[in-house]
Amino acid sequence: MYTVTMVIEEMSAAVATVANDLGMVLPLAFSFVMSVVGAVVVVRTIPHMSAMFIQAGLFGRDLCKSDKATRVPESMGLVSGCVFLMCMFLFLGVAFGEHFLQPSAAFPHAAFSEYLTSLLCICCMLLLGFADDVLNLKWRYKLLMPTLASLPLLMVYYVNLGSTTVVMPKFIRPWIGLTLNIGVLYYLYIAMLAVFCTNTINIYAGINGLESGQAVVVGASVAAFNIFELNGYQAAQHCFSLCHLLPFTATSLALFYYNRYPAKVFVGDTFTYFAGMTFAVVAIIGHFSKTVLLFFMPQIFNFLYSLPQLFRLVPCPRHRLPRYDDKLDRLEASEAEIDEKEIRWWMLAVLRILNRLKLVQLRQGSGKLFINNLTLINLTLIWMGPRHERSLVHILLAIQVLSSILAFVIRYPLAYLFY
Ligand code: UD1
Ligand code: MG
Repeated sequence: MYTVTMVIEEMSAAVATVANDLGMVLPLAFSFVMSVVGAVVVVRTIPHMSAMFIQAGLFGRDLCKSDKATRVPESMGLVSGCVFLMCMFLFLGVAFGEHFLQPSAAFPHAAFSEYLTSLLCICCMLLLGFADDVLNLKWRYKLLMPTLASLPLLMVYYVNLGSTTVVMPKFIRPWIGLTLNIGVLYYLYIAMLAVFCTNTINIYAGINGLESGQAVVVGASVAAFNIFELNGYQAAQHCFSLCHLLPFTATSLALFYYNRYPAKVFVGDTFTYFAGMTFAVVAIIGHFSKTVLLFFMPQIFNFLYSLPQLFRLVPCPRHRLPRYDDKLDRLEASEAEIDEKEIRWWMLAVLRILNRLKLVQLRQGSGKLFINNLTLINLTLIWMGPRHERSLVHILLAIQVLSSILAFVIRYPLAYLFY
């Protein structure tokens, strides 16, 4: 009798798992179809919108080309961002449709509020990015706005009893235990993650296809990670992330088609901010806010390397993108002029050490001191030599792909050693 009960229990558990799996299949299948449709809509819409954007004064000059007269439509991320949001709004109807049709069944308010809040945050960043493209906002607003925009997300995370517990690595468990509840520090961390993600793509930019290309690689990599985790105990959270990242990656790929070398459009801060916030949102709600940073290794390096210029310890020109050599049609590292009287003595000492290590290039010329602008783009040019823009963007996107592969190696084989 006991064994019969057990068999019945196991069978009902198996049926529940299948039902649960089927419950995920429909939203994911719909999300996939919407992604394809979204990408086609972006590809078809951008050529029509380009003239409209130029007419509205939304254009820039391609600084890495000999022809600097051509007006290239700017802020085209607005098109991919709006199509992405439309896909997500339609998706909500399918994901929660059965509950609208059967009002008697318990409505999943927690999950619904997470979806709505994630879209609110992404929408806010699309607006801030567009405002930045039009108004050229000051740095303090660029830091303040993502922090404020992430507040609704933090609140929803809090009321839905999101975990603030962190699993400890094996080697410190004897002292601290298996897990540690870091409480308010966790909220501080995710607010900082939102600020970091929104700005990090924007400062790793300036050559054709790099902004949209890196977003496609990171989007596809995180989506692959979510697929691997669909069998895990946090399947619903990874399904949530995947349903965002499929349309995001597809619409960004369509944008990349026009933004790649030679760029027919620029994506603008509209795209860089909205893309960054999308990654932050899926990582926070999807409960993988540590893992997501593994997919941002080039951006983290670029951010740390940029710090002296971001904090104005070293002069920071308006544009840090590489310098275009007209005669040879190739790019070389751009430079900032250092006033030896203005710069702090210890910063100069640090720069001289970094120069020895070939991490920065200091050059004396006509009685002045020059330093390369501190970006990974310029550092690549210093290490690998001046080259054509197309070749440079291929190298940087290859680095992005390699760092994603490394991220998987760290997340799976290596992490098992520590956790
Ligand atoms: C950020 C960078 C800045 C970089 C710029 C390029 C920091 C602190 N800021 O500034 O150093 O120069 O992005 O995007 O790191 N452009 C090109 N080719 C491209 C992409 C952009 O020439 O492939 C130029 C165009 O003139 C375009 C302009 O960059 O109009 C866009 O710059 P914007 O996004 O406004 O610069 P920021 O985000 O403020
Ligand atoms: Mg920008």
